Amino acid sequence: GTEDAATLRTPIVAVLGHVDHGKTSLLDKIRGSAVSEGESGAITQHIGATAVPLETISSMAGELVDPDDFDLPGLLFIDTPGHHSFSTLRARGGALADIAILVVDVNDGFQPQTEEAIDIIQRTGTPFVVAANKVDTIPGWNPNEGAPIKASYDAQSERVRSTLDEGLYDIIGDLSSAGFSADLYWRVQEFQRNIGVVPVSAMTGEGVSDLLAVLMGLSQRYMREEMEVDVSGSGVGTVLEVKEERGFGATIDVVVYDGVIREGDTIVVGGMDEPIVTEIRALLQPRPLAEIRTENRFERVDEIEAAAGVKIAAPELDDAMAGAPVMVVRDRPVEAVVDDVRAELAELEVETEEDGVVVKADTLGSLEAMADALREAEIPILRAEVGDIAPRDVAVAGTANEATYRAILGFNVDVLSNAEDELEESEVEVFVDDVIYQLVEDYEAFVEERER
Ligand code: GTP
Ligand code: MG
Repeated sequence: GTEDAATLRTPIVAVLGHVDHGKTSLLDKIRGSAVSEGESGAITQHIGATAVPLETISSMAGELVDPDDFDLPGLLFIDTPGHHSFSTLRARGGALADIAILVVDVNDGFQPQTEEAIDIIQRTGTPFVVAANKVDTIPGWNPNEGAPIKASYDAQSERVRSTLDEGLYDIIGDLSSAGFSADLYWRVQEFQRNIGVVPVSAMTGEGVSDLLAVLMGLSQRYMREEMEVDVSGSGVGTVLEVKEERGFGATIDVVVYDGVIREGDTIVVGGMDEPIVTEIRALLQPRPLAEIRTENRFERVDEIEAAAGVKIAAPELDDAMAGAPVMVVRDRPVEAVVDDVRAELAELEVETEEDGVVVKADTLGSLEAMADALREAEIPILRAEVGDIAPRDVAVAGTANEATYRAILGFNVDVLSNAEDELEESEVEVFVDDVIYQLVEDYEAFVEERER
């Protein structure tokens, strides 16, 4: 029944995977199919996210989803660029996403960022489904635009099917090495125990209906209780990105996962040094597609209800941190909310030692993931911070006692030009990468070289 839908928030679905494996294309396909089904109005584009209501999902999933079986309002999909660690997507010490879609190119199989996504999925206990994408690129593939995948699969030649099977079994094997028992989704009885692998094509739309059906099933069955939130309470969210916008200055892109945020609200945001207390000047959403050519890229909205993505314009946001909490101050004193934000930030704080390397990362979540990886590799950390590599970091790294610790490991960050000057004069080594384990390996290789 749908009578209590108002109290159930939209589950947040993170779309993850290696660069170019087709995350954005898959979301485009879902949007595109909705447009061609005359449902374009129903799909709303958010900052960093796409909201698809239940009716639209069920009409796209055809007979695979019966809307009467579900009472969730729909799904909110968050696209994550391949180089951007999924670890930003956190909330209250857990995962921000309720469910994840791990997109894997069926020809390419598991790649570094796939492994990284799996690590984080595992650490946060996020239920997920695997989209084995690009099935249409299998030589000899006979496309059936928009068809459910089982029918399309059965209609392929034996040779095509066996090539596809090889790719699928590689993926299932890699999942198994990572500790997950997985199978083709139509063979999975219990999605709580086994991971479903759905062959899809973001190009032809084959399998997209199956993927949506599995997602709805997963969220309905295993997440219903967690979706019961007070959607009229004071808003809580997570900063995805801090961005400069012409006419607005520094803004934050936020995923709101609880309550309501309104224009004019006082908010507390996790900052580089201290929590930032500020007042919302504007809540912004992308303009509908038809109006994209107008001067203003954004449209102002009065309020946003969880779950949703939104851009917040407010003074003093320059020092806001990606991955940090955002909380609306409504029925409580400001100090109490500041304390809450501080407590959440403290939980994320990386433990440092007397001597060790300097770590920089683009977001709080990725900093935490870096710290975990370094702890596992028994590499101590002298200092860990969010942000690009600055002259100050070079100075700090130079103070390390042990020579091999005079190093900066940067994840998804740039080296500021004045820091480069500083580096030339110092003996500090810099490692920058967008894959965590690559950074750790590069650093270990450097240490080995030095100790030889
Ligand atoms: P990043 O955001 O850079 O991490 O990449 P992504 O995962 O979002 O990949 P994207 O959707 O941008 O797709 C990468 C390329 O693969 C594009 O050229 C797409 O057109 C192509 N592509 C994606 N999915 C499919 C598919 O199912 N079939 C075919 N033939 N091409 C695809
Ligand atoms: Mg993309």
